[in-house]
Amino acid sequence: MTDTNTAVLEVRNLSKSFQSGTDEVVALNDVSFSLQRGEVLVVTGPSGSGKSSLLHAMSGLEPCDSGSVLVDGTDVATLKPTLAAAFRRRELGFVFQFFNLIATLTAVENVAMPLILDGVKAKEADERAAEMLNAVGLSDQRDRYGAQLSGGQMQRVAVARALVGTPSLVLADEPTGSLDRATGVEINALLHETATRYGAALVIVTHDVALALPGDHVFAMRDGQIEERGVA
Ligand SMILES: Nc1ncnc2c1ncn2[C@@H]1O[C@H](COP(=O)(O)OP(=O)(O)OP(=O)(O)O)[C@@H](O)[C@H]1O
Ligand SMILES: [Mg+2]
Repeated sequence: MTDTNTAVLEVRNLSKSFQSGTDEVVALNDVSFSLQRGEVLVVTGPSGSGKSSLLHAMSGLEPCDSGSVLVDGTDVATLKPTLAAAFRRRELGFVFQFFNLIATLTAVENVAMPLILDGVKAKEADERAAEMLNAVGLSDQRDRYGAQLSGGQMQRVAVARALVGTPSLVLADEPTGSLDRATGVEINALLHETATRYGAALVIVTHDVALALPGDHVFAMRDGQIEERGVA
């Protein structure tokens, strides 16, 4: 968050508005920051403050009105669609509130999916996925289907899937929002630990300020702006 030369994520003067009838809703208002590998940023703020908009902008999935997002020096908005998909698979990992596992695939197949899409051979993808499942403490569940797993187990699979391609940046939107308190605490710790161990920067957007662990950078958002910056 200090030296932009080594930043894995650079957000510069990002602004985005939506038209709602005759009203203009400002989702992001001149947001700037940077983040390095191994750093964690927790973005909190009330509903509608712009957290998800910020996350979508960082993934390059939604164009902004002005400003830029650089991931490892690449401006995500300027990539051609075919390159953008490959870039996201290699550079970004995603963790969602509702896990977003593919129900017809087993745990290990879900984790292997980003590698398979990226052209990694089936045997190697299976080995790397199995290793990641091991890293999230789920090696005994590798051949179970999504519906046979608990919420906490599903989110462990999702964390493994997010990290299997060794991305430089992991983006998580309410990663504990569908879990009970104790499981949420466990998954939050796992997400922190796994992202750090694999050398990624991690951004978590959430209502729950308790997801910020000691040393994390914390932003409070309001009306599309970073209202406060601090360290947990
Ligand atoms: N596709 C859209 N069309 C119109 N307005 C939108 C759209 N997406 C977001 N907004 C508006 O932009 C603002 C920021 O929304 P955003 O989803 O980023 O908030 P949030 O902080 O993630 O909220 P929550 O905590 O409820 O998930 C809100 O006023 C929202 O209504
Ligand atoms: Mg949101």
